[in-house]
Amino acid sequence: MKYKAIIFDLDGVICSTDEYHYLAWKAMADSIGVPFDRKINNRLRGVSRMASLEIILERYTGPALSDAEKGTLAEQKNELYKEYLKNMSPADLPDEVNATLQELNDMGLKLAIGSSSKNTPFILQQIGLGGYFDAVSDGNNITRSKPDPEVFLKAAQMLNLPPRDCLVVEDAVSGAQAGAAGGFDVACVGDAARAGAGNYNMKAFSELLQIVK
Ligand code: BG6
Ligand code: MG
Repeated sequence: MKYKAIIFDLDGVICSTDEYHYLAWKAMADSIGVPFDRKINNRLRGVSRMASLEIILERYTGPALSDAEKGTLAEQKNELYKEYLKNMSPADLPDEVNATLQELNDMGLKLAIGSSSKNTPFILQQIGLGGYFDAVSDGNNITRSKPDPEVFLKAAQMLNLPPRDCLVVEDAVSGAQAGAAGGFDVACVGDAARAGAGNYNMKAFSELLQIVK
């Protein structure tokens, strides 16, 4: 086997919470009259909440915002985002992802999460994967978000494995860069795969079953 473990990004890889991020940021941007679309949204993938806000505010032309006001805007977005998360259930874990995770587990691979999101524990619980992974490294245990490799290096540490033994799976260009910077091979789906950002650029999640062999 080429790898001993797989470290998955969460939003946009395991489940489609990336769409809820978009909808919640869109509502926040509309409330202060900032143009925001899916192209800008792609730049927010993998990026921390406050860094995402700064990217959205690049197009803001209103009166200067204090740090406290920026904190309130980020909080406003997160509250709406959590409303979407409350409606999630195990039905939001795609069948293909579920089946592939089970097969990878049966093949003896360790499975971990490496996500910038502070909402990771809640999302995993909602989709029925609370306690499922061998390690969870997320926005609550890092100081630098992707493209910094910290979140993946911490996951590898938790697994007691060097980066070369772990494959990172990402939908974000920033996440693919983070993986490469940490010395990991990276398999991409979605936006990052279309950008050709990974060592492997997949059309379907289940392609992982061939890649790891
Ligand atoms: C990442 C998302 O997984 O988490 C980013 O791709 C998001 O878009 C980041 O900004 C932080 O998420 P949260 O849930 O802590 O606001
Ligand atoms: Mg993602």
